[in-house]
Amino acid sequence: MVSMDTLVSLCKRRGFVFPSSEIYGGFGSTWDYGPLGVELKRNIREAWWQANVYTRDDIVGLDAAILMHPRTWEASGHVQNFSDPMVDCKNCKMRFRADHVEGTVCPNCGGELTEARMFNLMFKTFVGPVEEEAAVAYFRPETAQGIFVNFKNVLNTTRRKLPFGIAQIGKSFRNEITPGNFIFRTREFEQMEIEYFVKPGTDEEWYERWVAQRLNWYLGLGLKRENLRLRLHEDTERAHYAAGATDVEYQFPFGWSELEGIANRTDYDLKRHAEFSGQELDYFDDESGERFVPYVIEPSAGVDRSLLAFLVDAYDEEPDKEGTRVVLRLHKALAPYKVAILPLSRKEPLVLKAKEVWAALRPHFATSYDDAQSIGRRYRRQDETGTPLCVTIDFETLNDDAVTIRDRDSMQQVRVPVAELRARLADLLTS
Ligand code: GLY
Repeated sequence: MVSMDTLVSLCKRRGFVFPSSEIYGGFGSTWDYGPLGVELKRNIREAWWQANVYTRDDIVGLDAAILMHPRTWEASGHVQNFSDPMVDCKNCKMRFRADHVEGTVCPNCGGELTEARMFNLMFKTFVGPVEEEAAVAYFRPETAQGIFVNFKNVLNTTRRKLPFGIAQIGKSFRNEITPGNFIFRTREFEQMEIEYFVKPGTDEEWYERWVAQRLNWYLGLGLKRENLRLRLHEDTERAHYAAGATDVEYQFPFGWSELEGIANRTDYDLKRHAEFSGQELDYFDDESGERFVPYVIEPSAGVDRSLLAFLVDAYDEEPDKEGTRVVLRLHKALAPYKVAILPLSRKEPLVLKAKEVWAALRPHFATSYDDAQSIGRRYRRQDETGTPLCVTIDFETLNDDAVTIRDRDSMQQVRVPVAELRARLADLLTS
């Protein structure tokens, strides 16, 4: 398996992920997605939306505000429960999660530790011009609550019947004490969450179904089965709202860790919001004539950690004439660039033709163009960033108006008339 050092260095060198604010020395555990990273990230979101919104008939989308009414977080239980027990070192002042240290001495300097104190993970801010308690707001620690508070709005505007879901992708914020492992655990991160509302009593069955469906989503996008596993949460680790929870875990270079959590949140959130807001958040079932508060199954995935898993899983090295070929065997749907246009030389007639081919393909595929150095080096560069197809324009092209398509994985080449190029590329990219 690729080491984190190799991967972090590839990410920086090729423009997937840069340390944030790097010219100022970086800023703890924050990362910026470069030109290739942003494409990969968009493709992950798109694949998730495609699978969960467009191809289904029972889920609609939402994009709620990051800043929400502060009562939201009292109702959700986050003000009271979303905290970790922390200990401080009286000597060096470093802070640790109490469950991460053994004994009563500081792992850093051996100094004496304080008693454990609860430390809330929500980021606090002040809304408006005055910094006072009345103006306190929180950056959302999960996108889920934007869905719960809009339950009635979506129900009324879409006239949905149970079971149905609401999907949302967006940033969330947690003041993690021990972030780390590159983009795996960061304080600012992106979630892809579904709240799937079901009739009480059918929740166990839907929970099982969602666990299976979410595992299949990762498999369908190429993650290797042996690098994925399901792990049922122990009673002691479940979130305050969950009756049952299973993690989809991935075998990262730093060990098995959570990619996604699927939780049975019961009717906890809707009931709490009904209580705190004074609004009815229930559902009337025409068929049975019953009124009840739906139960909720929540598949909650991380965009950044999925991206990391897709990179780790895709990374491959194989021996070749020049030493080692590094290939990112990313699923074609995820690859940042689908097609690279490579003129064999920088001679004018070839470049003009290559630019013409490139311009014709650009509206249809995410493309890149490279005319620097030998063709072998250029294939390697594309392999290293996962581009599935390279189109080479050579001197023969000027006579036969045909080009060569080269496949990233097999390195096989086929010659194709320029007139058929777009259709052939589209076929190859979906096959
Ligand atoms: N909504 C579940 C989570 O953020 O962990």
